[in-house]
Amino acid sequence: MALDLAIIGGTGLYQFPGLENVTQRNVETPYGAASAPVVCGEIGGRPVAFLARHGEGHSVPPHRVNYRANLWALHSLGARRVIGVNAVGGIRDDMGPRVVVIPDQVIDYTHGRITSFCDADGAEVKHIDFSEPYTASLRQSLLTAAASAGVAVVDGGCYGATQGPRLETRAEIARLRRDGCDLVGMTGMPEAALARELELDYACIALIANWAAGCGDEAEISLDEIFANLRDATALVPRIVTALLAK
Ligand code: HPA
Repeated sequence: MALDLAIIGGTGLYQFPGLENVTQRNVETPYGAASAPVVCGEIGGRPVAFLARHGEGHSVPPHRVNYRANLWALHSLGARRVIGVNAVGGIRDDMGPRVVVIPDQVIDYTHGRITSFCDADGAEVKHIDFSEPYTASLRQSLLTAAASAGVAVVDGGCYGATQGPRLETRAEIARLRRDGCDLVGMTGMPEAALARELELDYACIALIANWAAGCGDEAEISLDEIFANLRDATALVPRIVTALLAK
């Protein structure tokens, strides 16, 4: 089966609005179970798969997501293009709550995660080129789709991937800013690198839920605010994806 697109939904996106004629697939992978059954269906008559990265009830924290199983499952169902939707905190001045970003770079601060399909006895060792961590053509398709859907997005930004599940300290965010990160999230890696190992096209839609620690006026980050902002930003995703598939 060929799929036109697979979408990995992050916090706040557990089902994909507008996905029709759905069937659920429980996929066995050599790496264990994916976070949830893969929901296969159609958007505008085009075959699409959706997977909730944290499980359907958000039961899997960022550092325990089985990123390998998730990507393997989508690949084995015929996906060749994957869009990761990720909730993030904003660091750069133009990246406040509810802004949508199509990042173009990554710095990985995560640790203790399995970061490669090579991480198995006897597996072929692959040194992928990761100079550009997101597939340029898919990024461009997202930017064009957002424009045609009338959704404002920021083109480019460096995603700092942190371990979570806690949010960062102000000092950690100050360091990320000095390093050149524009946004911060907990799930961007190793997903992007594993997608590249499988030779999947992969790009990210980052939804800014809050100012990262020390970047806004608030003394603390409110979880209620995070979820309210995410609800607003998440509603824009199906518009972008529908426009992408209409091309
Ligand atoms: N930091 C890390 N991950 C996040 C944040 C944040 O501030 N907001 C949403 N995901």
